[in-house]
Amino acid sequence: MILKRKKFGVFACLGFLALAGCNSHSGAAIAADKSPSVAMTAKKVQKGKAVFVENCVACHQADAIGQPGVAPSLSNPEFLSMASSEFLTKTIASGRAGTSMVAFGEILSKQDINNVVAYIRSQATLPFRGEQIDAQPDAHGDERLGKMWFADICSTCHGVNGNGYESGGTGTAIGKAGFLNTVSDGFIRETVRHGRSNTRMRGLQGPSGLANLTDREIDDIITYMRTVPSKDEE
Ligand code: HEC
Ligand code: HEC
Repeated sequence: MILKRKKFGVFACLGFLALAGCNSHSGAAIAADKSPSVAMTAKKVQKGKAVFVENCVACHQADAIGQPGVAPSLSNPEFLSMASSEFLTKTIASGRAGTSMVAFGEILSKQDINNVVAYIRSQATLPFRGEQIDAQPDAHGDERLGKMWFADICSTCHGVNGNGYESGGTGTAIGKAGFLNTVSDGFIRETVRHGRSNTRMRGLQGPSGLANLTDREIDDIITYMRTVPSKDEE
C-alpha cells in the first residue's frame, strides 16, 4: 500500500513541480500540500471550477456537496482536512473501479486534473492535517473482531464487504481496492473517529457518536478492511 502511494507521489509531484518544487521522493506530493495556497491561484481555481461543472457536477452536485447514494461530498470540511492533493489526484485520475467514479485520467488532461484539485481544495475551511494523519502507524488489530464490528455497524450503510452504493446504502465502497489502495490507515481511523459533518457518516467514537468505538476496536475494523478486497474479487 505504502509503495503504491509513494510511486504515485512522483506523478502528483510532476503536476506541482513548477509551483511547489519537488525535492524528496517520500514527501513530494506532501510538500505541495504544505502550502496548498501556492498551487492555488485564483485563475487555477476558476479553471478547475469549469472542469468541475462540466464533468463532475452531475454526480457530486453544485458546490460539490454530494448526494447520498450517488456521490460523496467533496466540500466536506473533515474530508478536505485530510484528503491530500496526492489522494485527490490519484482518485480522479484512476477512479474507483467497480463504482460509477470512472478514471478521468483517460478523459481529462493532467492540467485539467490539477485545476480541478485546486478548485476542490479551495473549498477547505479547516486546517490541513493530512500529513500527520498519513504518518499515523498502521493498524494491527484483530481481523475476526473487526469483521464483526464491520457487519454490525458499517455494513448498514457501506454494504456487506464494503461494496458501497451498489448494495443500496448511502456509504461509499470502502471495501474495494480503489479506495483502500489510495488511503492510509490514519485516514480511515480519523474518518471513523470524527465522521464527516452534515453527511450520514457520523463520528463513531465518544458519547455523542453513533457508536462509541475504542481505538482498539477501530483498528480491528481497519485490519479487517485491509483483507476485504482479496476476498471479494470482481
Ligand atoms: C449511517 C450510515 C453510515 C455508517 C453506519 C457508517 N458510515 Fe462510513 N460513510 C457514510 C457516508 C454517507 C460516507 C460518505 C459521506 C458523503 O456521502 O459525503 C461515509 C464515508 C466513510 C469513509 C470515507 C470513504 C471515502 O470514500 O472517502 C470511511 C473510511 C468510512 N465511512 C468508514 C466507516 C466505517 C469503518 C464504519 C463502521 C465502523 C462506517 N463508516 C459506518 C455512512 C456511514
Ligand atoms: C457518474 C458519477 C460521477 C461523476 C461524473 C464523478 N464522480 Fe467522483 N465519485 C463518484 C462516486 C460514486 C464516488 C464514490 C465511489 C466509491 O463508492 O468509492 C466518487 C468519489 C470521488 C472522490 C473521492 C471522495 C471521497 O470521499 O473519498 C473524488 C475526489 C471524486 N469523486 C472526484 C471527482 C471529480 C473531480 C469528478 C469530475 C472530474 C468526478 N468525481 C466525477 C461518482 C462520480
